[in-house]
Amino acid sequence: MPVLVAYATKYGATRGIAEHVAHELTTAGRPAVALPAATVHDVSTYSAVIIGSAVFVGKWHRDARHFVRRHGEQLRQRPVWLFSSGPLGEATHDKDGKDLVETSRPLDLAKHVEATGARGTTVFFGALDAARLDAPGRLMMRVPAAREVMVEGDFRDWATIGEWAQGVAAQLADDPA
Ligand SMILES: Cc1cc2nc3c(=O)[nH]c(=O)nc-3n(C[C@H](O)[C@H](O)[C@H](O)COP(=O)(O)O)c2cc1C
Repeated sequence: MPVLVAYATKYGATRGIAEHVAHELTTAGRPAVALPAATVHDVSTYSAVIIGSAVFVGKWHRDARHFVRRHGEQLRQRPVWLFSSGPLGEATHDKDGKDLVETSRPLDLAKHVEATGARGTTVFFGALDAARLDAPGRLMMRVPAAREVMVEGDFRDWATIGEWAQGVAAQLADDPA
């Protein structure tokens, strides 16, 4: 059975990450498909599930939260990993020296780990195109504190994403396909 990479995105960055994860898994010998979380109605035909979500104001995108709620029971019966796409900019640490991958963990992550029985979680840097922001997003960009962390550009690190996907494939090697 293939691996599902279910993603929740608003502006498309998380879709790109999900597709890269699926490609890396497939290359590593675990065929995988990336699909929008909102379009998946049954996870029982997948050997494992990776859920990836964009983070907005500290929380997972609605489509990912609903996916976990809809499929919690089935998810707990198969290997699950979670990733979030959030932090922006070239800096890897904040002004207090803390690792942004750690500090950018969504506030609701523990809840999703518990609901899915996830074996692992990670945070990837995301992307932001200010020209495409909706009205609330544009408003946020006017708040100085928010503007500091909402750096425009594409900060997705394909090598880090690929390594993580290969690590998942290695962990899946002991599980039935
Ligand atoms: C209004 C707004 C709020 C955001 N809030 C957060 C946040 O709380 N934490 C974080 O790490 N990233 C935050 N981001 C950055 C997004 O998560 C990042 O741009 C992500 O890659 C977008 O994914 P998408 O293109 O798949 O929608 C925010 C971006 C916007 C536009």
